[in-house]
Order: sequence, then C-alpha cells, then structure tokens
Amino acid sequence: MYRIEGLAKLAGRERYVDDLPLQDFLWGMTVRSPVPRGRIRAIRFAKDVDWREFVVVDHHDIPGPNEVLLIERDQPVLAAQYVRHMHEPVLLVAHPSRDAVRRAVRAIEVVVDPEEPVLDYRKPPRPDQVQYGSDNVFKRITIAKGDVERAFAGAAVVVGGVYETGAQEHVYLETQGMIARLEGDTVVVVGSMQCPYYVLTALMHALKRDEHRVRVVQAPTGGGFGGKEEYPSHVALHASLLALKARRTVKIVYDRGEDLAATTKRHPACIRHRTGLAQDGRLLAQDIEIVLDGGAYVTLSPVVLSRAAIHGAGPYRCDHVRIQGRVMLTNAVPYGAFRGFGAPQVQFAVERHMDVIARRLNMDPVEVRRINLLRDGDTTATGQVIRDGVDRIRLMERAVELCGYHAKRLDHARHNASDATTRRGMGIATSYHGSGFTGAGEVRLKSRVHVAGLAGGRVEVRTASVEMGQGTLTVFTRLAADRLGLAREDVLIAEPDTGRVPDSGPTVASRTVMVVGKLVERACDDLRRQLELGRETRGDTLRDAIRAWHREHRGAELIGEAVYKKPPGIEWDDTNYRGDAYAAFGWGAHAAEVEVDLRTGNMKVLDFVAVLDVGTVLAETLARGQVQGGVVQGIGWALMEECKFLGGAMANNQLTNYAIPTSADVPPIRVVFVETPFEHGPQGAKGLGELPVNGTAPAVLNAIAAATGTSPGNIPLTPEVMLDLLERGAGTAVVG
Ligand code: MOS
Repeated sequence: MYRIEGLAKLAGRERYVDDLPLQDFLWGMTVRSPVPRGRIRAIRFAKDVDWREFVVVDHHDIPGPNEVLLIERDQPVLAAQYVRHMHEPVLLVAHPSRDAVRRAVRAIEVVVDPEEPVLDYRKPPRPDQVQYGSDNVFKRITIAKGDVERAFAGAAVVVGGVYETGAQEHVYLETQGMIARLEGDTVVVVGSMQCPYYVLTALMHALKRDEHRVRVVQAPTGGGFGGKEEYPSHVALHASLLALKARRTVKIVYDRGEDLAATTKRHPACIRHRTGLAQDGRLLAQDIEIVLDGGAYVTLSPVVLSRAAIHGAGPYRCDHVRIQGRVMLTNAVPYGAFRGFGAPQVQFAVERHMDVIARRLNMDPVEVRRINLLRDGDTTATGQVIRDGVDRIRLMERAVELCGYHAKRLDHARHNASDATTRRGMGIATSYHGSGFTGAGEVRLKSRVHVAGLAGGRVEVRTASVEMGQGTLTVFTRLAADRLGLAREDVLIAEPDTGRVPDSGPTVASRTVMVVGKLVERACDDLRRQLELGRETRGDTLRDAIRAWHREHRGAELIGEAVYKKPPGIEWDDTNYRGDAYAAFGWGAHAAEVEVDLRTGNMKVLDFVAVLDVGTVLAETLARGQVQGGVVQGIGWALMEECKFLGGAMANNQLTNYAIPTSADVPPIRVVFVETPFEHGPQGAKGLGELPVNGTAPAVLNAIAAATGTSPGNIPLTPEVMLDLLERGAGTAVVG
C-alpha cells in the first residue's frame, strides 16, 4: 500500500513548521543561562540597542504557575532566581527581523553567581551539591524475584561486568519550532510535535487557560524519535508568551546549534551486572544495578527508568533476579525521551554481558542465548508470564541462518589468522520491547478515538496520533478501510488539532498501531452501531447508510467512538513492581558482521540482519524502513555519536562534529518479520517503533569483541577508544 503522504514528501511539497506561509509576524528567540548552576544576580541589557523595538518576556509575564507541567512541577518555563543547567531559558525576545532578534539575544547578559554543579552522575553528590531530596536521586526502582543471594551461593560461576552508554541526539529532520498566534481570545499553536495534548495541558497550566482558549495543531513533522515528546511544550509556551505580550503572531524555530545544545538527549547510563551461572551456562541469578543521568529536572526520567528496569534482565528465563535502578540529578541539560526510552541502554548491557559470559564459559554466544531465552510459560523479572506463541529461539536461529553465522565464523578465523591489517567478526543480540505505556499507564491515559461518518459517505479518523515519518496516516487508513470495507480513498485522517480530535494519547512508546490502532477499529465498529447496522454491513451499503443518516440529521455529526479498555488478564502492581508490565512485547534477534582496521581503529559494519516478531505487519515497506532506520540509529549510537560535554555544555553542537551515520556507514540491512498475531492488537499487530534500536548496538559491539578479542563495555566505541583497547589487549573495559 502507498504511503499516504509519500508523494508530498518525495516532491518536496510537504511544509514543515518553518515552511508554513506566514505574514506579519515576529521572530522569537531565547536568552539562556551561561552557566550550569547558580543564582541569577542581574539581567543587563546593552545600552546601544533600542529596546523599545523589541518584545521582551520574563517569568513575570507568565499568567499561571511558572511550571512546565509534566510528572513533577520542578521545571520552570523561564528561570526566575535560579538556573540549574547551561542554556536554561531565562528571557524571551521577539522582533520582526530575525537578524535583529539574534543580535538582541547577544546583547542581553544574564549575570549569575555560580554554584558548584554536579557534572558526573556516577559520583555521590557532596552536601553542597544536593539539589533534589537528600541525595539528588529523582527516582529509585527495585525489582525482586526469588532469592538472589541464595542462588549466587549455588552458582558454579559468577561473572561481573560494567557497561556504559553515552548521550545521543535525536537529529530529527527539522529542528524544534512553533508558531503561536491569537485568534480572538484563543491562543493557537502550530508546530513540530509528537504529543498535541501534552502541549495543550502545558499551555493550559502555565497560561492559566481552559481548553476552549487554547488550541494546538501539529505541523508536518520530520522525525521525533522522542525528541518531540516533551520538549515541544517548552517552545510552545515560549512562543505563546511572546505572542500574548506582543498581541502578534510569533514564530520560534531553533537553529541546529541551539537545538543540539539546549534540547533533550538520550539518558547516559551506567549498568553493572553480576550473574550466577551453572556450569552448563544456565542463568541462576542476575543482580543488576542501573544508574541513569537525569540532568537538571525530573522531566520523564522516572518512566524512562521504569522501562529500563523492567527490560534490564533481557529476554531470559531466570528465577532469581534483583534489579535496582536510580536516576540522578545532575546540572546537565535535562535528558529526555529517546526511541527505546531506557530499554536500549539496559539491553546493550545485558547483551554485551551475555557475550562476556559466553567467553568466560568458553561457549558459543548463540548457545548461551539458546539455553536461556524465554520459552512460553516462563516469567520475566516482574513475574509476567509470557505466553504469546512466539518462538524466540527460532527467531534467533533465523537471524543466525540468514547472516551465515557459522560459515562466516570459519571464514573470519581464516581471515584473521592471515590478514595483517584487519579483523572480522560476527555478533548476535536478542531484544524485546514492551508495546504501549508501562504498567497501568494506558489505563490512566484513557485514550479516546473518533471515526466520523461524513455527509458524502466517507469517514474521517480523528486521533491525536501524529505522522512523523513512521506511517501513522497509512496504517490508520488501512485499519479503518479494512474494518469498514471501504476503499482507502474513502478514509480521511484528521489533522491532529486539539480543537477537532479527541485525546488518543501521545505518539510515543510504540503504542500508535497497537493501542490507538485498536481504538480506530473499535470506533469503526461503534460508527456502524450508531447506524444500527450489523457487522456484515460494509462498503457501498455502509456509505449509503452514512449519506442517508446525514440527509435525515442535517448539520449533525455522526461519530463512532472508542475508549481504551485494558485487554483481559493484565494485572500490574506498581508498588511492588510485579505483574504484567505490558500487554505485549515485540521480540527481535540481530546479527552484525564487522571489520576492524588495526591501524586506524576504524570499524565498519559489513552486514546486518534483523529478525523481528511484532505481530502482524500492517504496511511492510514502512515497517522495513522503521527497522532499517532503527538499526542506523543504533549503529550511530554504538560507534560514532558522541556528545562532548565541557562544563555542562555540549561542545560539539554542530552536525559537522556530532557525526551521525551517512549512507557510506550503513551496511545492507536485511529485515525479516516473523508474524505471530497478537489477539488484542488491530489485525494482530503489536508495537514496532522502538524495538529495532534495542539489539543493534550490542550486536555490533559483540561482533567487534569477537573480531578483536577485546571486551569493549562502553559506547560510543570510537576509533580512538578502539585503538586504545587494541593496544592494551583483551578484556580491559569490562571488570570480570
Ligand atoms: Mo518516545 S521515546 O517518543 O516513547
């Protein structure tokens, strides 16, 4: 099936926020903190600027509470007396000329009495560095299953390891941007975002307005990857404050340098494993400590930690598991949502660790996984019984066969024995990802979807789920068309505009297809019910019935509705972290072939295979693209993407020196879907968006470890670090 918005994108007609036609407006910009922590002493405006030409907003101009509403209310819209991170927004300036506003921002000095920042999340804070609770811990989570210490006492072998992952930038196509205008007494915000209703609630709170005086509309969005999950609320608030003060339309579009420096990144993580094993390689005990860098405000860190903890033990059977996680305040720019949401970090650790275990036991990494992978009927660390009919061992075997694992290993042994300058190796990783919000999250969201029957007989699907390149429009079109027996042309998808669409929840957490897609189907059924028609009424008969209804009810709206209902048999205990963390998991197996240049430390991924079970695949080309994109993002995170921080600021905030993979760095990526339908998903589908990232970095690093005999534990593994490892010999990065 064709991608609905594909032609517009191909032809360059798609208009992102900065391309939208706009007349008579002001450019808005942000004045930011020059230090990572301190008390604001003064704001100095340069004397040689005529400030009467500019609109200037500070925290006094905020009508409601100076809070960006999220999990906690710790983050101000604009810093008032105190700054907690570099580039924290302090003032806003607007002017019709973009150049003038740029100069104005440079002509404002925020004078801060600096205080000692926390810049290393792994070190306990000194008393003068404590800024949250008594110890800077934003959130702690413990998962306990069985009796870990007793299981260790009976283990033949105990293997330890420490793994670290770095920050990662989303590098979405277009930078953060919002347009705010006043329509009568209503603030209307249009921009790049994943979650229109998050933006709406943030605006209602800080602007002290009810939902009738605020409207949020998503502009075409070129990739979010989590970077447009919580951050757009800030930009929307800033643009709105300027627009309200100026009584004019205001546009804020970050340039790339500002976007890289001032917006969220993937949480850096340090993960410690201690694993007890039987001589034959069976897991007996897993003791796992997860520490995340949260940055300066809570943002979404507690739920990122939650997903990290729940996925921490990997897709393996083990009766005795202890997972202790914490996320720490530092005076870094707050870390936030990023595709995978904590799961890639912990799965990098556990999958590298499985290879470290295999080497210690002198076993094949595939064999160690085969012995330990979850079988149907086994339980995860939270005690969730997995019984979905997926054969996870077969999934891995498919990846092993497809990449030619065994033959290649023999080839590589010969190559490595005879070649003077390069080493080749194969690496395997398995992965899993829970679809939808964690625990009771989906129940709390109470997502709602409408499918309207239009006067002409067509239907319109109304959700707040956005298209950001991942295929929402295409998949929702298919689901509604199939459900109602209509041609795809007869299905329209409403623009995500909070004035027109109900709150179907945020476009995050691999939930759009499985959770919202299911609601689309149920809203279609409800539409038929409104017409008092049976399940068998489809196609032209249905169109005629919709037309007839409108002739009878002139001017009225015909709306089918569905509200989230939890699938039967799902129970979650949030206090003890026990039970069914997700309604369904997607499963993956990933294989990488690499070549390492011993002279330069350069690492090249030669081949990559991803075998995934995400239930029924609804749009195969798009799904394949999702996986390939996730693999590329994983390769970048593993080998190249390094945020260099100096004094709490990103020093390499340009795409010239924050390197992401180009087509020259990307191997052939072969994607295979094994489709085990999920009975509560639309047409049997589960979530797909995040899973492909989880297994990529460990597969690549495992291949590098196999090629070189070293044991890298930290990413990004840049050529410099690789050379260092090669010089120092095997096993240096991991504490055995
Ligand atoms: Mo997100 S990382 O957009 O769930």
